[in-house]
Amino acid sequence: MKGLILSGGKGTRLRPFTYTGAKQLVPVANKPVLFYAIEDLVEAGIAEIGIVISPETGDHVQAAVGDGAAFGARVTYIVQDEPRGIAHGIRIAHDFLRDDKFVLFLGDNFIRDGIVPQVAAFRDGTMNAQIILYEMPDPSAMGVAVLDGDTRVIQLVEKPKQFISPYAVIGIYMFDARVFDAVDAIKPSARGELEITDTIQYLIDRGLNVRAHLLKGWWIDTGKMSDILEANRLVLDTFESRNEGQVDAASQLEGRVVIEAGAAIVNSTVRGPAIIGKNTRIENAFVGPYTSIHHDCLIQNCEIEHSVVLEHTRIVDTPARIADSLIGRNAEITRSVGNTKTLKLVVGDYSKLGIL
Ligand code: TTP
Repeated sequence: MKGLILSGGKGTRLRPFTYTGAKQLVPVANKPVLFYAIEDLVEAGIAEIGIVISPETGDHVQAAVGDGAAFGARVTYIVQDEPRGIAHGIRIAHDFLRDDKFVLFLGDNFIRDGIVPQVAAFRDGTMNAQIILYEMPDPSAMGVAVLDGDTRVIQLVEKPKQFISPYAVIGIYMFDARVFDAVDAIKPSARGELEITDTIQYLIDRGLNVRAHLLKGWWIDTGKMSDILEANRLVLDTFESRNEGQVDAASQLEGRVVIEAGAAIVNSTVRGPAIIGKNTRIENAFVGPYTSIHHDCLIQNCEIEHSVVLEHTRIVDTPARIADSLIGRNAEITRSVGNTKTLKLVVGDYSKLGIL
């Protein structure tokens, strides 16, 4: 089997991060979301992986993933000229996929338990497609599956107005070569995209064997900021303490804390679950639970908790505690110098600030 990861798209819900980078590279517990998808595929025995990228952010994805050797995979990149839909991603990957069975994994989807049993069942079975479902009290914002019995899928409805089933379709799918007939036949939807829901419905309408697997562990679509913080919390909760950096005698590590190589904790408290990235310096500071500080940051004379900070960022001398925040790369947050109580800001488009 092969893997196909979709890592293009517009990422409008994660602006401003997606102006300068791919949303699939936003780190969760200091590791890009996309890497978890690659690892899930490799763990399931899939080493031949195609990654669909966009012309805008594809370079970043390629720089981060490379040829895949670091993951034990071989990666082929497929450029999608515009985000014309998830099914369009399958269409342009036909040459790469040939007629092999494959897993389609949306690069911003994130699950706890991997996909080993689902891949084994699909590889060895007679299904034409397998979708993964997540039970929710109100799945009305998602594609929803109606089942006959425990596993046979008889209908998919995108954002149903009335409750028809509690089963939301998540961004991990398995297909055999019959899917290419579907993606070639379907027409763009009202929003102008080739929809994965229409693709699967096409297979169902032709009497093919479309089955569902109900997910037990958690699933998160990291497409918006609150989801990133939630994914970060869930992953940090699985970590054990590890210290590869320097912690001075005046500092305290409380609870489960990971200090990566080259990090320095000076006269500070870090209360886990938390991770401090490579070569980051925490000085005269408090880092509270559910915080991930990425590599090469400086956190000095300030307090921060329940936040994700991306690489090369400096947070220095802030008068109030920072919480519930996602702070981008190479950002600088500091007290402005002068006598008056002024805020001095350089804020990018679509940024959000909460000021005391
Ligand atoms: P979405 O989150 O559905 O779309 P998006 O990335 O455009 O984001 P937003 O809604 O915030 O504007 O996409 C799911 C995944 O599939 C994501 O990793 C991006 C990827 N994708 C593509 O690679 N090509 C596409 O044409 C589309 C629609 C998505």
